[in-house]
Amino acid sequence: MNGPHDFLATVRFHIRPCREADLEPLEWMGTFTAHRDTFRRVWRDHQRGTASMLVAEADAFPVGQLWVDLADERHGLLWALRVLPGLRGAGIGRALLRAGERVIARAGRPIAQLSVAIDNERAARLYRALGYRQVGERVAEVEHRAHDGARAVAREKQLVMEKMLDAPRE
Ligand SMILES: CC(C)(COP(=O)(O)OP(=O)(O)OC[C@H]1O[C@@H](n2cnc3c(N)ncnc32)[C@H](O)[C@@H]1OP(=O)(O)O)[C@@H](O)C(=O)NCCC(=O)NCCS
Repeated sequence: MNGPHDFLATVRFHIRPCREADLEPLEWMGTFTAHRDTFRRVWRDHQRGTASMLVAEADAFPVGQLWVDLADERHGLLWALRVLPGLRGAGIGRALLRAGERVIARAGRPIAQLSVAIDNERAARLYRALGYRQVGERVAEVEHRAHDGARAVAREKQLVMEKMLDAPRE
């Protein structure tokens, strides 16, 4: 892209804990509406302290998210990372992951773990750049929801990746 009608925009964002008022905008104009019940379930875990939902906010809109599962004593699990198309490549995913790692370290878990579909090269490259190393492979059942709520489960081959975290500084 380098023509007279191509422009480069920078985006100002910040990472913060999710609020209940974010849940509806996080459906991204219908794209994730079928996952509303999952959002609600994770929100309840977030309120209980067994999970942490992080959002990237830009211009008062949640343009990215990362969920942290703290149910396990040893690992914090990072999942559901996504950044709004159009704002990818601006460092938002990286900042969300860094924030998720801080949440895990502060919760006293020494290891951050995540899984990534074997063909998701872009995400895997980002995880490797941040210090994640493959510790295994698994076949996971991944739920897909159509806009009408119809549910389909597909088997997906995933890499399991981990990173040892530094102890929190405070
Ligand atoms: C994976 C994802 C969350 C990354 O978010 P992001 O905000 O684009 O990530 P960043 O801007 O922090 O970029 C991180 C790295 O991605 C790579 N990257 C950025 N733009 C890219 C592009 N257009 N094509 C390929 N790689 C790119 C770069 O290696 C970059 O590293 P750098 O900071 O050294 O340049 C985002 O692409 C996304 O939402 N994808 C769809 C959902 C998904 O796959 N989630 C992960 C499930 S495991």
